[in-house]
Amino acid sequence: MSTRKIVVLPGDGIGPEIIAQASRVLDEINTTHQLNLTTQTCLFGGAAYDTTGTPLPDDTLAACRDADAILLGAIGGPQYDAAPRELRPERGLLGIRSELKLFANLRPAMLYPELASASSLKSELVAGLDLMIVRELTGGIYFGQPRGIEERDGERVGFNTMVYKESEIRRIAIRAFEIARQRGSRLCSVDKANVLEVSELWREIVIDVSKDYSDVELTHLYVDNAAMQLIKAPKQFDVMVTSNLFGDVLSDAAAMLTGSIGMLPSASLDKDGKGMYEPIHGSAPDIAGQNVANPLATILSVAMMLRYTLNEPVAASDIESAVSAVIREGYRCADIATGATSERTVNTTEMGDAVMAALNKGEQ
Ligand code: IPM
Ligand code: MG
Repeated sequence: MSTRKIVVLPGDGIGPEIIAQASRVLDEINTTHQLNLTTQTCLFGGAAYDTTGTPLPDDTLAACRDADAILLGAIGGPQYDAAPRELRPERGLLGIRSELKLFANLRPAMLYPELASASSLKSELVAGLDLMIVRELTGGIYFGQPRGIEERDGERVGFNTMVYKESEIRRIAIRAFEIARQRGSRLCSVDKANVLEVSELWREIVIDVSKDYSDVELTHLYVDNAAMQLIKAPKQFDVMVTSNLFGDVLSDAAAMLTGSIGMLPSASLDKDGKGMYEPIHGSAPDIAGQNVANPLATILSVAMMLRYTLNEPVAASDIESAVSAVIREGYRCADIATGATSERTVNTTEMGDAVMAALNKGEQ
């Protein structure tokens, strides 16, 4: 089998610590499943800015272009708030999404049965929750032109443009229908078509695409109602598809339903399935360097990478099973610990150890 190349971007804050544990898992799986993966670590985000003066150095971008998949820790931190906007770590992230055309962002929110009490909602509302948000990631108001802050009539005006081309809506809709088909065959498209023309077009195109997916049940919600429904009865959803900004907001809400944002992976895919994989949570500067961050979301991002880009579902399942096993056995990092006597509170490396042990035992 030919070699496949993974670029690893540890990033900032807790990024390097959680990536260290995910890399152990990746190396192990690479060996046991003979996957022929090679890895290369590159500077990205604030770490790159500190060393090279830019959050996305050219050689990092070139390595990412050349890679089959990218594994990212997290980026950002308060020390970069004062940097010029175009040099902040977030710009590096937006740059990589856009340069690599990673338009499809998959953000699952699922709840491990043992962690139902970690949610701020009543357990019965969230137990068994398993939803997938498909967020458009390279268009909409995040990238629309014109944008800026300028002087008009003697005062400053800030403006952005929410714009979608038909082709951009169509490709994310197709991706979402395909994903829905592999899951519960229900897709909810979220827009603001009662107010925004861009959403009117969004809805029209999604309905048009649905003609090729008569096996998938399509519904529509306005984004305000969608936010309400997510909190009220989240289990009604299977797959949600929405634009960049709405998806940014709704995916944080969905992640929080699980009460354990430290458990959730994500994927950002291009049209051919090449992808960048990262935990949903951020760089958590407040706990960086303390070896207490939960590495499971990053470890599960490795599993997603094996499933969605590398086409290695067995290896992916092995990792997911190992993570389920350590949760079942009571291992908890501080973010999901409740203090119950059945739990073993562990730090970042110990959680990595537990996953490695479960992998080696082949626990299901
Ligand atoms: C996310 C983040 C990013 C976004 C930021 C860091 C630019 O919030 O991935 O959801 O807004 O897309
Ligand atoms: Mg966000």
